Amino acid sequence: MKKFLDLISEEMKDAFETAGYDRELGKVTLSNRPDLCEYQCNGAMAGAKVYKKAPIMIARDVAKKLVGSKAFASVEAVNPGFLNLKVQEGFVAEYLNGMRAGEKFGMDMPENPCKIIVDYGGPNVAKPLHVGHLRPAIIGESIKRIARYAGHDVLGDIHLGDWGLQMGLIITELEERQPSLVYFQEDYEGDYPAEAPFTISELEEIYPTASAKSKEDAAYKERAMEATFKLQSGIRGYRALWNHIMQVSVADLKKNYENLLVDFDLWKGESDVQGLIPGMVDYLKKEGYAHISDGALVVDVKEDTDTKEIPPCMVLKSDGASLYNTTDLATIMDRMEYFQPDRMIYVTDKRQDLYFEQIFRCARKTKLVKPETDLLHIGFGTMNGKDGKPFKTREGGVMRLEMLVKEINDEMYRKITDNRQVDEEEARQTAQVVALSAIKYGDLSNQASKDYIFDVDKFTSFEGDTGPYILYTIVRIKSILNKIKEQGGSGEKGLLKEAQSGAEKALMLNLAGFNGMMETAYKETAPHKVCAYIYDLANAFNRFYHETKIVAQEDEEIKSGWVALLLLTRDILETCIDLLGFTAPERM
Ligand code: ARG
Repeated sequence: MKKFLDLISEEMKDAFETAGYDRELGKVTLSNRPDLCEYQCNGAMAGAKVYKKAPIMIARDVAKKLVGSKAFASVEAVNPGFLNLKVQEGFVAEYLNGMRAGEKFGMDMPENPCKIIVDYGGPNVAKPLHVGHLRPAIIGESIKRIARYAGHDVLGDIHLGDWGLQMGLIITELEERQPSLVYFQEDYEGDYPAEAPFTISELEEIYPTASAKSKEDAAYKERAMEATFKLQSGIRGYRALWNHIMQVSVADLKKNYENLLVDFDLWKGESDVQGLIPGMVDYLKKEGYAHISDGALVVDVKEDTDTKEIPPCMVLKSDGASLYNTTDLATIMDRMEYFQPDRMIYVTDKRQDLYFEQIFRCARKTKLVKPETDLLHIGFGTMNGKDGKPFKTREGGVMRLEMLVKEINDEMYRKITDNRQVDEEEARQTAQVVALSAIKYGDLSNQASKDYIFDVDKFTSFEGDTGPYILYTIVRIKSILNKIKEQGGSGEKGLLKEAQSGAEKALMLNLAGFNGMMETAYKETAPHKVCAYIYDLANAFNRFYHETKIVAQEDEEIKSGWVALLLLTRDILETCIDLLGFTAPERM
């Protein structure tokens, strides 16, 4: 189904053509002056030079051709040459009925869907999730859902940090505490216990302890490095411990991400590609892409057009060890081999911008990807506290993600139960659903690359540009629909009718913009466009609601049209919040 703007542009283009002008001038856009018109066309201004004619003359010529138009109710040529447009009520209603009847509201699906991998989350095992993990999870999840909705074949990959020194540190600290464990007996040949010798809370305490010790005690660090090396060379007992760490940690990560409605198709990690590194290094050397610089193996990635210095991409450190870069390159290789993605999207902190620039250039130059493979880094800004500095606990420490979520849940519960008699269990559940909308919408409504202030009071408010406001609107629609149903109401099969009021028409035009908005949100990997859209839509709905006695309407024709309008509004709002990664309760 054509996007609404394209559809009305077609009619405008026909008019330009029949009036003797280039049809491409007939592009229609949303109005800059909603007080004067709904849409506008500036083609006459652009055509003035070409046709050596006053723009207003062209505009008038075109307007004449649109008398009796199917799409436009009014076409006004105004000085200096704009075309101010209003569309026909019936035309919009018909379009919306088409949207309701179509799959995904009639959104066109790509002829050749892209294979896309979204790399997001990126937690490190054995470390608790903290607030720094919130943004990649929320943004990545939404980007994944939007791309999937747009008809592409999308996989989300968590890309766990599950290799390297952190593992050696944990193993070292374990040995320190429980040296008699069989894992540390070199001559042990039996099976290892199925049960891990630690719980998740112990694990989460072991890592920071070990990390702190290694910073003060050189010999301890030396041992941790040796343990890392032993693990990487495949010593059985260490390998078994690593499996335990993974099991315990991943189970906990899954639970935490699940609470955030974030889920990954691939739970791959850095460890999965370690076996590919030697072959990759050989290839880079053999093809002459990599050379030794100060003992390290590097690939030059600077280009003539660079305006800032882009340092070489290091593949191996001077001691021969692999590093963060090496693993990301090997992961690209792995993905190309097993999935052949057309696109890889990485969602990390924007402080990694330069890093990904180096990685992408290196992957291209060394032909690890195809020339047409699209590599995209979405670098997000910092989540700040009200003081404008990176978000911290009251004591100034790093806040665990669980704590943050709990705080918002409690605040929401307080709001929901304030001065009201509600069932405790239901209130808890509703609070959780609404709290998630507060957190996610609060984040996603900002352009990802910008820093933002995590403002609990603002985010949890039921008014304004917030998640709870959107949910409140959805719940309101559901409740009206229920009331009509209780009355013996008009069923769900009716069609939308011509708008009865300005507010109703405005709501309808908002709905008509869904497909165009979705296309942009996908193309620009921009969840904030979905937020901006549903905020406008919720406002338009609430204006209509305040002006209209829906339930009391006696004309059954009109009322069934409104039911159809409400259903479409509810469905589009619910689809959009799903794309943002949260849900709405039945009541609140
Ligand atoms: N685990 C890394 C960290 O904690 C983030 C991984 C980001 N993704 C990637 N493909 N490099 O910093």
